[in-house]
Amino acid sequence: MGVDLRRTCGLAFALAASMLLTPQAQAADLAHGKRVFQSCSSCHAVDSDANRFGPTLKGVVGRTAGSVPTFRYSQAMKDAGANGLIWDEAALSEFLYSPKRKVPGTAMRFWGLWTQSEIDDVIAYLKSFP
Ligand code: HEC
Repeated sequence: MGVDLRRTCGLAFALAASMLLTPQAQAADLAHGKRVFQSCSSCHAVDSDANRFGPTLKGVVGRTAGSVPTFRYSQAMKDAGANGLIWDEAALSEFLYSPKRKVPGTAMRFWGLWTQSEIDDVIAYLKSFP
């Protein structure tokens, strides 16, 4: 009994340690990204070209800001795109951390994501819908 328990603990420890040490543990986690996207999906579709309260995010990674022709953007977002804002990973990361700081005057009413893993994983999720 005691021996079994110790062996189980040892195994669990080895497993935990290997999870911490393998680089995969830091790679983007699509399942987590999908869960994070639930906080976006009330306003955004990602798997179709349909606009909701916000523009479709299908293919958003690499896209010029404010460029879905069928969506009525705020002037702020249209200006940001005209001034060369492209939604690469760095720009998305800043926008998702603080939409209002990245694009002052944006119509996206969202407080922002707080942790880098939420941001990285939701961007990886967006990238999986080119
Ligand atoms: C309350 C509704 C709402 C929520 C929630 C929301 N958005 Fe938005 N989003 C908008 C609106 C509206 C716009 C258009 C903003 C503008 O025109 O200024 C927008 C714009 C964007 C853009 C720019 C798109 C483009 O074509 O330039 C990105 C990227 C984006 N949202 C990502 C997200 C992500 C990722 C989440 C979840 C973490 C999210 N949004 C949550 C409403 C929302």
